Amino acid sequence: MAKPNVPISITDMKFSIEDIEDFLRGAPPDQKLSIEYPAKYIQLGNGEKAIIRQAKLEDAPAILETLKVLIDHKYDRDFYHLVGVRTYSEVLAWTQNRIKDSRTLVATNESGELMALVNWRMWNAQIAISLHTMTFKRKAGLGIAAYAAKIEDAFDYLNSQEWWATFESPFGFRMGFRFVHEQKPWPEMQHELGGSRIYYLTKDHWDRIVKPKLMQRGTFGERPVSKEALAATYPLKPTETLEIDL
Ligand SMILES: CC(C)(COP(=O)(O)OP(=O)(O)OC[C@H]1O[C@@H](n2cnc3c(N)ncnc32)[C@H](O)[C@@H]1OP(=O)(O)O)[C@@H](O)C(=O)NCCC(=O)NCCS
Repeated sequence: MAKPNVPISITDMKFSIEDIEDFLRGAPPDQKLSIEYPAKYIQLGNGEKAIIRQAKLEDAPAILETLKVLIDHKYDRDFYHLVGVRTYSEVLAWTQNRIKDSRTLVATNESGELMALVNWRMWNAQIAISLHTMTFKRKAGLGIAAYAAKIEDAFDYLNSQEWWATFESPFGFRMGFRFVHEQKPWPEMQHELGGSRIYYLTKDHWDRIVKPKLMQRGTFGERPVSKEALAATYPLKPTETLEIDL
């Protein structure tokens, strides 16, 4: 331990837990996070409709309850276990102020049961980091619609300029492939999720190619969601039955 070159009047100092907390969090949240993502309807391939809305902290227990089930080797299929455990840690970190500037969107059915979940975070004012995409009801085209919703959130509402994603599973990679992400040089640049490749979209690519394509295919979603329909998605209910086998 080093001794100061100047005499110090006391030998010990106490720090309160509140003093320490400011150092354990990131810098204060970006002001742009107060902009709300407006809910929308997604028409699913199976005829059902989902509502995609921004998640609030009060939704976290239902999200965590659903994800907890997946933290088991029996879900080592299609990477549900790995993605489940990573997403669990991000949602928990959000509730405990241990992740900076993250946003979570949930897809629910009309009675508020969790069907899918996406999250991302602002690296800075320009760069948006894609975290995870998970659907608990497969074969409905929900994953890609939810993934598009978080890109929309970043570009159209929080004014990001680049979207940085990486993919942990073949089904995830397929989503990126469909949106024609480009790749940053690797290994010089690595994604914060495990140091893997960074696949990116620019705002220009989103505006000119991805968004029009989603609209043309009718998979972008529709607004507005009425107050009553939105209210019915609260409180968020954990997924009752996982429908993740193909
Ligand atoms: C990645 C993920 C969100 C993609 O969701 P999705 O796009 O809705 O696709 P699904 O997983 O429901 O898979 C259905 C697809 O499988 C294909 N498929 C293959 N065999 C099939 C079968 N027997 N029955 C139905 N679909 C089948 C279909 O092409 C279908 O695609 P389509 O919806 O375009 O027709 C979802 O698979 C998921 O949550 N995976 C676990 C977590 C994960 O890997 N996240 C991404 C991390 S990068």
